[in-house]
Amino acid sequence: MSNFNQESVLSVHHWTDTLFSFTTTRDPSFRFRNGEFTMIGLRVGEKPLLRAYSVASANYEDRLEFFSIKVPDGPLTSRLQHLKEGDEIIVGRKATGTLVIDNLRNGRNLYLIGTGTGLAPFLSVIKDPETYDRFEKVVLLHGCRHVRELAYGEMITDKLPNDDLIGELVRNQLIYYPTVTRDPFRNRGRITDLITSNKLFDDISLPVLDAEKDRVMMCGSPALLVDMKKLLLDHDFVEGNHGEPADFVVEKAFAGR
Ligand code: A2P
Repeated sequence: MSNFNQESVLSVHHWTDTLFSFTTTRDPSFRFRNGEFTMIGLRVGEKPLLRAYSVASANYEDRLEFFSIKVPDGPLTSRLQHLKEGDEIIVGRKATGTLVIDNLRNGRNLYLIGTGTGLAPFLSVIKDPETYDRFEKVVLLHGCRHVRELAYGEMITDKLPNDDLIGELVRNQLIYYPTVTRDPFRNRGRITDLITSNKLFDDISLPVLDAEKDRVMMCGSPALLVDMKKLLLDHDFVEGNHGEPADFVVEKAFAGR
């Protein structure tokens, strides 16, 4: 049996000239946990050209969604960005990854920290009713250079709160905090700086990060992950992974090419 399913593209959305997302059909046999990634790609000649992508849709939805950058000379994204409705795409039959709530100990508040397309895994985590069962407040931080890169903002603030399945949970428990570093905006600055200065906690009216109580997932630029991880380790947070749930989990943002 092949390790891949063939799916067809249902819709494509271009957020900016460097960011786009698309949805595809979903083979009913494809199972994943919210926050996981799989390999997706295109057949180029005889060979599949594949990259890891977080699944941005929730595991109970009947279509799959992916969020990508466009790299002008990237072997896959230079082709993927031209996808249109009806095109075929290959999607791995297996999903994996560390950004699943099962890899975290129980706690009070959950912080989801993403930069750029590192937002993608959290789009599925915030649609999961179990996330709201496990944590009191769920804080979604999205850091970008420019305001135009804050993709999915309206979906999070306008659509999700009215969703039949999770609307009430989102209205009561989700706090969305977008921030940019190179444009004027209501929230400005790097996520690490907003945490160390306590500005974030003042703005969202929550207690400062506490390893005893709070849990963190992060996905984004390598530099952010290094600095954020150091910040957490300095505050006695312990890194978790499969089989060993702890206080925080990390995944680099995929789709760099
Ligand atoms: P900055 O504009 O100050 O570099 P990128 O587009 O380079 O992946 O960055 C996405 C966002 O992550 C930007 O707002 C960027 O801020 C921020 N960022 C980059 N490196 C770090 C870091 N080491 N710690 C915190 N935020 C970072």
